[in-house]
Amino acid sequence: MSSSVHFTKGKGIRLYTPQNEEYIDAVSGTFNLALGYSHPELVDVLKTQVEDLIHVSSSFTGELAQNVLDSILDHAPEHITDGWMRDIIGSTANEGAVKIANKYNGKNEVISLSMSHHGQTLFATSISGNAFRRKSFSNTISTQSGIVPAPYCYRCPYSAKGAPECGFLCTEAIHDYVQYSSSGNVSCLIIEPILGNGGNIIPPEGYFERIRKICDELDIVLIADEVQTGIGRTGHMFASEHYDIQPDIITLAKGLGGIGIPAAAILYRAEYAVLEKFEHSYTSGGNLLSLTATQKTMEVVSREGFLEDVRTNGKVLGELLNTLKEDYGHIIGDVRGIGYMWGLEIVDKDGAPDVDLSNKIIDLALTDHKMILRGSRYGFGNVVKVRPALTATLDDIEEIYLRLDKLFSQL
Ligand SMILES: Cc1ncc(COP(=O)(O)O)c(C=O)c1O
Repeated sequence: MSSSVHFTKGKGIRLYTPQNEEYIDAVSGTFNLALGYSHPELVDVLKTQVEDLIHVSSSFTGELAQNVLDSILDHAPEHITDGWMRDIIGSTANEGAVKIANKYNGKNEVISLSMSHHGQTLFATSISGNAFRRKSFSNTISTQSGIVPAPYCYRCPYSAKGAPECGFLCTEAIHDYVQYSSSGNVSCLIIEPILGNGGNIIPPEGYFERIRKICDELDIVLIADEVQTGIGRTGHMFASEHYDIQPDIITLAKGLGGIGIPAAAILYRAEYAVLEKFEHSYTSGGNLLSLTATQKTMEVVSREGFLEDVRTNGKVLGELLNTLKEDYGHIIGDVRGIGYMWGLEIVDKDGAPDVDLSNKIIDLALTDHKMILRGSRYGFGNVVKVRPALTATLDDIEEIYLRLDKLFSQL
């Protein structure tokens, strides 16, 4: 994406240049601005917090951190009753989740999905399902981990015609991996409920049930990386709850900070409370600004009607994107999504992934239509993502559609 535009102000889903030119951000930053730019309620509490006290050691924030954690747990799937508020980014939250799994079951191998993204520290890079980010560090990366196929039905890695007729070959692959290729010491499986960077890949019905069953059978801890899907993105507070994934551990970041304040959390079943503070803490983990932003974000997102609006408006967004697919079927091969988390699979005349065209669409959106879109880097790199802030109104959704329509008519 071109980064030549300079923004100095933001409000809701809109950004402004110093010359007051208005742009629409259809992807809420990097999908982290759950409440959009500068949500006034968050700005207010943060202003007060900055004036009162910006930082104090986490030795003195225990009670506040617990209160904030409780406000997240109040909305978590029923079996998830405890957690950890000592991270500020998703990468280390995922590392913490793996540490917990390792310590819990005394094993150490991690399995993840192809095209997954779990962060960019060395460890998170090593367990993410893509090689291009690992390439330059292959000497350093030593984590024992295995990658199994993603549930990418639109381009099934087995060329199957869809679930359940396929027999869920991609979940069977986990069995095979553990039995024939692993170290014999597999500790956990980490999955994104919807593979975000992989191209908004939504698993077919029955997938999560199988994943849970396999983890039980093989004594593997199931970690749901909800860094993208958590805190309302799907129209539900947690994708784990909506899809009934029943993970043992959930990680959160991005949307948790509401307006871009870094915040992260690890949530788990009570019996997974195995970490000592000295095993997973960071200087800025659970800092006062993160906790303040998280607390207010939880309050806003859990307000009556808020998530219902995301579900209702998200449906409209899906219908409008599908209208685009009908009108521009030679360019849009598939429309996938739920809530405010959508992806358009861009194809060439033969239906093959068209990465150049995807990039052109993203560039044109910015230059000609004053709208920010993002593309998937993984998989084939041909999915254009549409993920506005959860506060986007129906008018905002309509505006995004109109700009997309103009853009596609230009191609
Ligand atoms: C699904 C997922 N997990 C983890 C991460 C890493 O989060 P962070 O960039 O905050 O370290 C990301 C970031 O894009 C993500 O999309």
